[in-house]
This record gives sequence, structure tokens and C-alpha cells, in this order.
Amino acid sequence: MIFVTGGAGFIGSNFILNWIKSNAEEVVNLDKLTYAGNLENLASVQANSKHIFIEGDIGDLELVTKLLDKYQPRAVINFAAESHVDRSIHTPEAFVKTNMLGTFWLLEAVKNYWNRLDEIAKNNFRLLHVSTDEVYGTLDKQAPAFNEENRYEPNSPYSASKAASDHLVRSYHHTYGLPVLTTNCSNNYGPFQFPEKLIPLMIVNALEGKSLPIYGDGQQIRDWLYVEDHCVAICKVLESGSVGETYNIGGWNEKPNLDIVHEVCSILDESKPRSDQKSYREQITYVKDRPGHDRRYAIDARKIERELNWKPAETFETGIRKTVQWYLENWQWIANVQSGVYRDWVEKNYVGRT
Ligand code: NAD
Ligand code: DAU
Repeated sequence: MIFVTGGAGFIGSNFILNWIKSNAEEVVNLDKLTYAGNLENLASVQANSKHIFIEGDIGDLELVTKLLDKYQPRAVINFAAESHVDRSIHTPEAFVKTNMLGTFWLLEAVKNYWNRLDEIAKNNFRLLHVSTDEVYGTLDKQAPAFNEENRYEPNSPYSASKAASDHLVRSYHHTYGLPVLTTNCSNNYGPFQFPEKLIPLMIVNALEGKSLPIYGDGQQIRDWLYVEDHCVAICKVLESGSVGETYNIGGWNEKPNLDIVHEVCSILDESKPRSDQKSYREQITYVKDRPGHDRRYAIDARKIERELNWKPAETFETGIRKTVQWYLENWQWIANVQSGVYRDWVEKNYVGRT
């Protein structure tokens, strides 16, 4: 079986749903259920014996050690993190705790477990650490996209804490021989993304008649990747990646934020027109910029394409339509997230199960 951390969050839950659909192996899912962890994302596999959920912290050495010994996974995939840049500006401590210290304790537990395995299991074992392109800092307009050789120059408490976790992972390979893999991915979008991030926030605010807040001039560029493509890439790296290597993952989809918001508005204008027939673009407002806002991210994803034969399947045009449609069809999910009802749901369904 495999052991996933942070599997109740946006990317982790998409990963688990895809995994269960296409693999026979069981998944143990350790998640602390912070505000971003939502077991409703996994409701469709709630009764599936291939998904074993455990509520807990990656920083809890005793718990993680016990779980690894009990389930004997062949791989650990670390999604668990505090992930929102704006929150890291307001409350950086949580980012240091989970992304840095949490990753450190997870590494300790995994190293000790790996050392107890027999030779064959030891050789086959992998720890895959899921990271971000933000560790590389910001790019000028004309600069080439980030490749795996770029220097780390993180600019926010979030990216600094992720950079620190990447360094720790790297050091556990070089010092202790732990068979690690690291992926650095660009901005994801798709189903189950918490509506604090740009795309779901814009969809939800638009439909609720609220303003669509654009930070600064809206010309910051991100490289967007549909979440399922990220999940497929992670599987490829897990199965065929070279130990100790890092792989950049991106969508070849650089777009300014304002274009993204315009695209969301156009799709909504078509699928769910406003009652006054005006465009949702009317709701766009420009607000004070994010402090230290990185101007541009772009991923050079040629290494993973060349070595592991991975390329994104979705274009932005197809992915964004699917995404908007998903939010339109899952209004109850949004309402539950907003009201906190999903926490009651967790209480109802999971307390006493594990
Ligand atoms: P998310 O915030 O939606 O989910 C994070 C999950 O981790 C939640 O379920 C939360 O409960 C859990 N968690 C937090 N602290 C924990 C702890 N101490 N112990 C156990 N679980 C804990 O994040 P996401 O967007 O799904 O991102 C997942 C990973 O991918 C993160 O490591 C993030 O840095 C990375 N990443 C995200 C993106 C993106 O665009 N969202 C892009 C590249 C990389
Ligand atoms: O690049 C990968 C990273 O992408 C991940 O590591 C992070 O976990 C993930 O949150 C994301 O970080 P960003 O800061 O790029 O994503 P966010 O959705 O918060 O913002 C995207 C862009 O949109 C960014 O330039 C800020 C801008 N923005 C965001 C919000 C929430 C706005 O203009 N208005 C907003 O209200």
C-alpha cells in the first residue's frame, strides 16, 4: 500500500480519488484536518476499504511511526502543508510548524521505518515530497521558465517554508541515503479547491454577486495546470523517477491573473448569466496588492516529458470549463465549506471509525 499525507486537501483528495479508480493498492491517508482538509472531498470512497483515513499530524513522530509499522507502505507521498500564500503573510508560524518542522518529523519517522525494512523493501521504497514552483522566486517577463537547476529564491513565508522542507528532504537523501523524489509544480486548479485560491474564489464570488478582487494591476503571471494532470505526473515520478532527483511539473500555460478572471466570467456569462444580463466582469475590483507579490512563475517541464514521458492532457480552455462546471454542479459543497457544515459531517461520519 501507499501512505499519503494531506489527502483531505485539494490536490491530495484528487490524487486519492484517481488512485483508487486506477490502482488495486490501498491508500492510508493521514491528515490533520485543518480548515483546508475536507473529508467530504472523499465522500465517494468513504465506504471503499482501499481508503483508510487517519486524523493526525505529520509532526507527530509517535503516531507516524506507529502507522508506518502497522501498514508497511512501499511509498510515502507528502502533500500535507499549509498552502495559502496570503495566510502565510498573516500567520507565518503555522507554515513553519507544518511545512518545516512537520516535514522534519515526518522524515525522521520515514527514515527510521526505512532502516528497519529488509533489503528488497528498502530498495523499492520511495518518499515523494510534493512541492511548488514558488521556491524559485519570481521571474522577469522575458526570463526563461524555471528548470530544475534554478536557484532557490523564495519570497513569501509560504515559499520559504516549502523551500526549507525541500532542502531537508534533499539532505535526508544525501546524508542517510533515504530514497526520495521531489516534485515542484505550478498553480493547480480543478474540483475541490478551497475557495480562498484565485479561481474558486472568483467563481464563488461571481455567483454570489460579490466583488472579484484583483490584487494590484492583475498582470502577475502564473502557469496553470489542471489538478488531474498533476496527479498523473506524481504517479509517473513515483513509479519511474530517479531517486534523489527533482522534477518540475507545469502546464505550459502562462496567463496573467486578469485574463484568468475574464475567462471565468465569460464561461459564467454563458452557463449561468446574471439576471440583469450584464457580464460578471462588472464585479471586478482592483484591490491593494499582496505584499512581496511574485510577478511571474513559469515552469520548464521538459525534464519530466523527456525522462518520464509526461505531458499535460488538459489545455487551459478545457480544464477551466470543467472546473467552472464542477463548481456550478457542486453548490452544496461550497455552501458546506462556507458554513463549516463539513466539520459536522466529519464528526458524524468518521468519529469512532479509526
Ligand atoms: P491544501 O491546503 O488544499 O491541503 C493541505 C492538506 O494538508 C489539508 O487537507 C490539511 O488538512 C493537511 N494538513 C495541513 N497541515 C497538516 C499537518 N501538520 N499534518 C497532516 N496534515 C496536514 O493544499 P493543496 O493545494 O492540496 O496542496 C498540497 C501540496 O501541494 C502542498 O504541499 C502544496 O505546497 C503543494 N502544491 C500546491 C499547489 C497548488 O496550486 N495548490 C501547487 C504546487 C504545489
Ligand atoms: O505556484 C504554485 C502555488 O500556487 C502553490 O504552491 C500554492 O500552494 C498555491 O496557493 C498557489 O499560490 P498563488 O499565490 O499563486 O495562488 P493564489 O490562488 O493565492 O493566487 C494566484 C494569483 O492570483 C496570485 O498572483 C495572487 C492573485 N490573487 C489571488 C487572490 C486569492 C488575486 O489577484 N486576488 C485574489 O483574491
